[in-house]
Amino acid sequence: MTATVIDGKTTAADVLATVKAATDKLVARTGVTPGIAVIIVGEDPASQAYVRSKGRRAEECGFKSETHRLPADTPEADLLALIDRLNRDDSIHGILVQLPVPDHIDEGKVIQAVDPDKDVDGFNFVNVGRLVTGQLGEAFVPCTPAGSMVMLRRALGKSDLSGLNAVVVGRSNIVGKPMASLLLAANATVTTAHSRTRDLPGLCRSADILVAAVGRPEMIRADWVKPGACVIDVGINRVPAPEKGEGGTKIVGDVAYDECAEVAGSITPVPGGVGLMTVAMLMASTLASACRVAGVEPPTY
Ligand code: GUN
Repeated sequence: MTATVIDGKTTAADVLATVKAATDKLVARTGVTPGIAVIIVGEDPASQAYVRSKGRRAEECGFKSETHRLPADTPEADLLALIDRLNRDDSIHGILVQLPVPDHIDEGKVIQAVDPDKDVDGFNFVNVGRLVTGQLGEAFVPCTPAGSMVMLRRALGKSDLSGLNAVVVGRSNIVGKPMASLLLAANATVTTAHSRTRDLPGLCRSADILVAAVGRPEMIRADWVKPGACVIDVGINRVPAPEKGEGGTKIVGDVAYDECAEVAGSITPVPGGVGLMTVAMLMASTLASACRVAGVEPPTY
């Protein structure tokens, strides 16, 4: 079997088009313009690039977009004061503090300082609680697992996963745990696997839905994949690529793509897969937050 490729570029473009159309309608009908504030502390080039792309996408969607660039030595109290000001700013519906923050700032404190009803990252305990208890209508869900679910639903052509076995490899707070909660809410039978799991290949082979989120390049091999399974690769790993000349590198996922694509029914590529969905889902969450304030039903994806 050769798997159907679940294309991140097309799926993300489709989500963004829906967000833009719904934003235009929201503004015309209610006068509410979705507003997003992104805060970055320090100069990390990769984080700066992510933040630029979030600002660009927000503008393309018709949002009000603010980027707050703070120096690396910003005191924690100043960052918390900025978050407090944005929490009270009615024109801002989504607040995101780009992680990681410098070591002298307590990341946990920063995450919990964001108003749960503007926490479009879905990292605040209130949103974690809403997700785990199945209150998906009220929860902000972390963007990477939310995007993975959109791809999965479209690949399988359904949103009810009753009777399907899902295995999530990885137990991070940002991806593995929320992904398991979303799959469970969609009625899948879910196992979360990790570095201490016995017979990981055998467990993965039982999965109709296999989600890899471990950060280990090409760990999932073809003989770990059940024929016809839907494989979602969340990994983004930079590895040496001698074929690109001395010092060359390339990005690969947690799944050995070429060989697994021979066995799976559908599969996300890396690059070009889940990674592209993350920013799109951030826009979807910011729109949902503005819709909530305006008392309007947000779109589904
Ligand atoms: N840094 C890397 N990924 C993320 C993310 O999803 N949210 C935030 N806030 N920072 C990140």
